[in-house]
This record gives sequence, structure tokens and C-alpha cells, in this order.
Amino acid sequence: MDNRPIGLFDSGIGGISILDKLKELLPNENFIFLADNKNCPYGSRSKKEIISLSTKNCEKLIELNCKAIVIACNTATTNAIEKLREVIGIPIIGIEPGIKPAISYTKTKNIGILATEKTLNSKLFFETTNDNKINDIKIHEQIGYKLVNIIEDGIISKKELDTILTLYLNPMIEKNIDCLVLGCTHYHYIKDNIKEILPTRISIIDTITPVNKHIKNVLILNESLNLHKNKGYIKIFYNGKKLSEKYIRKEYKLNYLEF
Ligand code: DGL
Repeated sequence: MDNRPIGLFDSGIGGISILDKLKELLPNENFIFLADNKNCPYGSRSKKEIISLSTKNCEKLIELNCKAIVIACNTATTNAIEKLREVIGIPIIGIEPGIKPAISYTKTKNIGILATEKTLNSKLFFETTNDNKINDIKIHEQIGYKLVNIIEDGIISKKELDTILTLYLNPMIEKNIDCLVLGCTHYHYIKDNIKEILPTRISIIDTITPVNKHIKNVLILNESLNLHKNKGYIKIFYNGKKLSEKYIRKEYKLNYLEF
């Protein structure tokens, strides 16, 4: 029994899409979410910078007494999880693109992935795709240039967003993909726009549900579930400009914190 909070971080609001589902799976747990929006986006930074920002976020979560850390950012997981696990003394779980489920799913042997530049260029992504690749399966990559900023700002019109998405998705559609991996937690908020543009034969694969199940299993294994009957608290902190509330639930209280 451990009533310390579970800590999560992302470069901004993207990871709140994980928190939305995680609090349903673990309603009695307490959560602290850090949106490092002062340093957003991570996806165009160097690996060194991503490691250093992620380490800073983990240290803050430990200072806030967290019992485990969820990297709610594919870019931070794929670039920093290895290093973080060397220096951070509590369990760390990270979300990463669903390449393995996509490989099991595809019939057309063509998979699309939309993610940040740094996720697609990371060693972990390269290894995952190569270790799991079955002969003739092709992975078509697209960098979601500017999408993270657009989602953080929350002011773009649907028409403008759809124009950008069409530009990114069309080349993959033309390659006969039958599934699209959403490789960035921010993109979850524009899933409906993406669905509208994709032909219905193309499925979207995101990894929020499996990563959340994994988090629960890690807590069970560590005997650190919070067994309190009461509903837990959720604290969300940001360190840059006020977070746009366009995509996130109204019930969340957002507070400024220096970290
Ligand atoms: N939500 C982060 C991810 O999953 C966004 C990265 C960024 O800030 O560019 O990759």
C-alpha cells in the first residue's frame, strides 16, 4: 500500500491524454503531471537536450514524492528512457510508438507512422522497427512538423489543420497502408481529424491502453498500488505560458510551477 502519487511528464498537454485514461484504470491513485511547455517542443531538440530536460522533470517528480514515473511522451521515451533508468531510482515506464501491434495487424504489409522528428530518428525506434520487422513489411514514416505547436496553441481552424494533415497523410495512403501508428501523445487530440481524412480501411493504432495496463502491472509487481477507497487527486503543473484548454478536460485544475 503506497499512497504517494504517480508522476507523469510531457513537453506539454499531449501526455494528459494518457492521464485521462490512467485515472479511469486507477481511480484511487494520486497523480502529478508536469507539462514542460516552457521547453516545448522536444521533437526538434537534440538527444542531449531531451535527456537533460527529461532528467530535470524526473528529479522534480521525485522531489514531489512520486513512487513511479510515466514518460507520457514518445520523444522523451525513445531518446532518454535508457539514460533515465540508469540515474533515477524509481520505476520508469514510457510510451512508445505501437510498431509491434502494427506489424501483427497489417495485411497490406504497409504501415504508416506519424511522429516527431526525434522519435523517428531515435536509436530505440530504429531498433524496434528492425528487431520486429518481418521481411517484406514496409514502414512509411512521416514527421508531424509543427503539429505539437499547433495543438499546444489550440487556435488553428479545422480547415487549416485538415489541410496540413492531408499533406502528411496522403503520401502514406498512396502507399497502401492499412494502419497508421500515432507516435506522439499530442496527436491523440486530433485523432478525429485524422480519422476523417483516412479511408475507412485504415485503422489507427495508439498505445495508450497497453501502456496504462503496463503501468498497473508494474505497481502490482512492486506492491505499490494505492489501496485507499477514496478517489485520488490530480495535480497538473506547467512552467511556461498558461496551457490552452481547448483539448483538455474542463475539470482539470492547471497550476504554474517552476521546474
Ligand atoms: N507528446 C510528445 C510525444 O509524444 C511531443 C513531443 C514534442 O514536444 O515534440 O512525442
